[in-house]
Amino acid sequence: MIVWKEVLPGVRPGKALDVGTRFGEFAVRLAEAMPVGSEVIGIDNDASAAEKAREKFAEKGLLFEQMDAAAMDYPDDTFEVVALSNTLHHIEDYGKVLAEMLRVLKPGGFFVLNEMYRDGQDAAQQVHEAQHTLEAKLDCLLGSYQRRTWKREEIIEIFRTLPLKDMTFTDFQEDAAYDAKLEAKNRKLAAEVEKIAGRPEYEALKREALEIQDRCQKDGIRRCTQLLCVGRK
Ligand SMILES: C[S@@+](CC[C@H](N)C(=O)[O-])C[C@H]1O[C@@H](n2cnc3c(N)ncnc32)[C@H](O)[C@@H]1O
Repeated sequence: MIVWKEVLPGVRPGKALDVGTRFGEFAVRLAEAMPVGSEVIGIDNDASAAEKAREKFAEKGLLFEQMDAAAMDYPDDTFEVVALSNTLHHIEDYGKVLAEMLRVLKPGGFFVLNEMYRDGQDAAQQVHEAQHTLEAKLDCLLGSYQRRTWKREEIIEIFRTLPLKDMTFTDFQEDAAYDAKLEAKNRKLAAEVEKIAGRPEYEALKREALEIQDRCQKDGIRRCTQLLCVGRK
């Protein structure tokens, strides 16, 4: 397990930005990692996600805004920390977003990239990977972009292209409470495919969903390992 207070050694108090925050899942971890007197802001281009994050975490003092990460409203050098968690594979032109994150990060500030990856996973984690890949295919058919997750080395390669120093890479696993949510999602997987009923891809994806549900019965389901990449501008 990660001790979030230890992931940003020597971080200065100030503003921290969580990009692609969805319901604020990672923003709340950033808040744990930041020193007293800091402010955490989460942005998402989906207005309903930002609204739900506000409902969940506003009383903890976190702020959420609807904003496109590829064209942020913030001036250069605004944040002590910028973070992108499990969102890189949701952005087709991710180079623009990474460049915007670098622009709004102060010199000496921390850049955090967290991504689940697909290789080196046990049987239960491979069920999660298969479920996630099917969800990505459905998202693309329904009009929002999501690609299959990368391999561990591919994520490191992307992170190493950024002009950052003092890079660290840490693998971590979510606790069992998260896996219970994945199991509940798995039970609805075949029903999710009904959203593309009548489309040419329907039969094949329905079969794929039923196979993944069988594998879940046999092997269980566990979240894929995530890689936390940290560097300084
Ligand atoms: C899988 S969710 C992120 C989950 C969360 N950060 C976590 O670590 O659990 C991906 C989010 O990225 C958002 N997103 C995708 N493209 C975006 C963009 N260009 N600007 C802002 N948010 C974006 C989506 O709306 C979605 O809520």
